[in-house]
Amino acid sequence: MGAVDGKVAFISGVARGQGRSHAVRLAEEGADIIGFDVCENDPDVEYPLATQEDLDETVRQVEKTGQRIHAVKADVRDAAAVKKVLDDGVAEFGRLDIVLANAGIMPITGEQRNRQSAFATAVEVMLIGTANTIFPAIPHLQAHGEGGVILITSSTNGVVGGISEGNPGVTGYSAAKHGVVGVMRTLANTLAPQNIRVNTLHPTGVNSPMIANEAFGRYVTEHPDMAENLQNPLPVPNGLLDPSYVTDQVMHLVGESGRYITGQRIIFDGGFTNYR
Ligand SMILES: NC(=O)c1ccc[n+]([C@@H]2O[C@H](COP(=O)([O-])OP(=O)(O)OC[C@H]3O[C@@H](n4cnc5c(N)ncnc54)[C@H](O)[C@@H]3O)[C@@H](O)[C@H]2O)c1
Repeated sequence: MGAVDGKVAFISGVARGQGRSHAVRLAEEGADIIGFDVCENDPDVEYPLATQEDLDETVRQVEKTGQRIHAVKADVRDAAAVKKVLDDGVAEFGRLDIVLANAGIMPITGEQRNRQSAFATAVEVMLIGTANTIFPAIPHLQAHGEGGVILITSSTNGVVGGISEGNPGVTGYSAAKHGVVGVMRTLANTLAPQNIRVNTLHPTGVNSPMIANEAFGRYVTEHPDMAENLQNPLPVPNGLLDPSYVTDQVMHLVGESGRYITGQRIIFDGGFTNYR
């Protein structure tokens, strides 16, 4: 018997990285998956975002577990499109239990980070996009009366400030990742009587295509002072968590062991924020 047998999870940014890791593990533990990803590059982001092939690979890996997945290309900034993905998935699978607002961008490298639009894009994708993911899900979580779990992926930059050189991209990333803490705290209060728990996740660097790309490698080489600032006090290999470790935290929070945890910033950062 799986930890989430019979449950249904809705995941944004499901095509690769942490989103795919969460989708596959939840499926291995018995959940059906509803997910979406933009599957297109963004002019304010230097590195490539996920592709349709990435989304197809997530579908393949989830279906290999024997569970079902409804996965569609959609932009988290398009509230109507996100609601349609979700409503279609719930119509197909019958219910909703878990929401993972995970989609994100890191507009901190390249010339793009100096454009003012990088600030707005970061906030639109990761703060407004989080709202677009969560608000249409609430009625579905309430519908069966059995409670639910909402997890929003923030960052260490949602606990402490980033180092921005005054550029809009880094500042926007930090603004969005702090902003979702306010969303989390307010919804946790509102939804607690219905046993719907809401928390934010704050990992240190994670080994996903957001970081493991040519643009970020060059950025770190060109900014050795910032590379120094990215170190974790605990010996995290290569300074980066495996996405599966983030999924371990998700499984704890969606499972029985997490049943009294709500309104919290769940920080698993190798001591990063304590040191600053
Ligand atoms: N990688 C890290 O070091 C790190 C650290 C802390 C927090 N985070 C956060 O973790 C979350 C997951 O990131 P990841 O590490 O898996 O990186 P990733 O780039 O592999 O995954 C992010 C996914 O979000 C999708 N996405 C981007 N813009 C979108 C949009 N407008 N609409 C829909 N989907 C969109 C991307 O296509 C991609 O598949 C993000 O919110 C990120 O900010 C990452």
